[in-house]
Amino acid sequence: MRTLKVALLGCGVVGSDVARYMARHAADLTARIGAPVEFAGIAVRQADLPRPGVPEHLITTDADELVKRADVDVVIEAIGGTDRARDLITTAFEHGASVVSANKALIAAEGAALHATAAAYGVDLYYEAAVAGAVPLLRPLRESLAGDRVTRVLGIVNGTTNFILDRMDSLGADYAQALKEAATLGYAEADPTADVEGFDAAAKAAILAGIAFNTRVRLDEVYREGITAVTAADIENAKAVGCVIKLLAVCERSADGSSVTARVHPAMVPLSHPLAAVRGAFNAVFVEAEAAGQLMFYGPGAGGAPTASAVLGDLVAVCRNRLAGITGPGDAAYQQLTVSPMAEV
Ligand code: NDP
Ligand code: HSE
Repeated sequence: MRTLKVALLGCGVVGSDVARYMARHAADLTARIGAPVEFAGIAVRQADLPRPGVPEHLITTDADELVKRADVDVVIEAIGGTDRARDLITTAFEHGASVVSANKALIAAEGAALHATAAAYGVDLYYEAAVAGAVPLLRPLRESLAGDRVTRVLGIVNGTTNFILDRMDSLGADYAQALKEAATLGYAEADPTADVEGFDAAAKAAILAGIAFNTRVRLDEVYREGITAVTAADIENAKAVGCVIKLLAVCERSADGSSVTARVHPAMVPLSHPLAAVRGAFNAVFVEAEAAGQLMFYGPGAGGAPTASAVLGDLVAVCRNRLAGITGPGDAAYQQLTVSPMAEV
């Protein structure tokens, strides 16, 4: 039985938990995949940082060399950012490796081109971890609901902002203090502006809308408003009328099916609505489809371990594909414009 080799790019909040859980779940992963998996190497920027539970001999600062290795089957990208991550992923494809990524900023901006490159090299690109952390959402939209007609996807897709708004609402916490806590807990992006200004949620909305409606939604087509203008007084005023403020992502198909819209903004949610009860860094997404009706997806939306869960799920899928000599469903259709995004929302 051949051993599948994995190159891990990044060993921060997400990557370090991927490394630890991959070691802890090695026997289960082998059983699920049907072959053992092991690391070929783990690329970081600073070789001498302490990384508890991560085998030191695997650490390298030469990511370029790692993704070019002929024996690497799968590259897991957990470095974040766009340019460097895109270049490394593209090199990995060119050298025959499939890729699992948690990088919503990159996928939202360049997913279509990356899918085309992956398809050209006959390899996979999976990124369940890019949206809603541990919550399985992309695979259900792409596969389980593929025979239905999704009309709306609505919910909380950013853990950091939900954490901040929740702390301000339930504890009267100060905005800056709550943001600092979210960063310490590993929920926030390296540059938390992406979270609080709604860029992270907008990237997720673009990915969700693309897969849900089987079309391409560009990041600049998503209306975006973050939470930086939400004040303690706004939160008190919402409370006074039986509401809570949440940052929502809303993706909709027009009634005649000819166009889609996606938007991200703070909204007053009545306390009686299930979204009002989503606490901390949890995410919750409602999917409405013609035949299925309303479905709710809920769970931990940020943090190392929840995100590692989604990454390792993709790793299993991609490894199975490689052993079978196939590629997965991918999002080839999502490269095509099947319905037009509206110019205005
Ligand atoms: P971190 O900043 O914690 O970790 C980034 C890691 O990448 C670090 O180990 C860093 O090295 C390494 N790195 C950065 N640039 C390079 C480079 N050029 N070459 C080699 N290594 C590099 O980020 P996160 O783990 O939080 O996030 C990683 C990705 O996962 C991002 O795309 C993020 O959006 C996504 N994500 C994060 C979630 C979260 O809850 N944190 C949830 C879902 C997705 P060093 O350690 O040496 O500095
Ligand atoms: N910064 C992101 C969030 C990480 O807070 O939701 C998970 O994608």
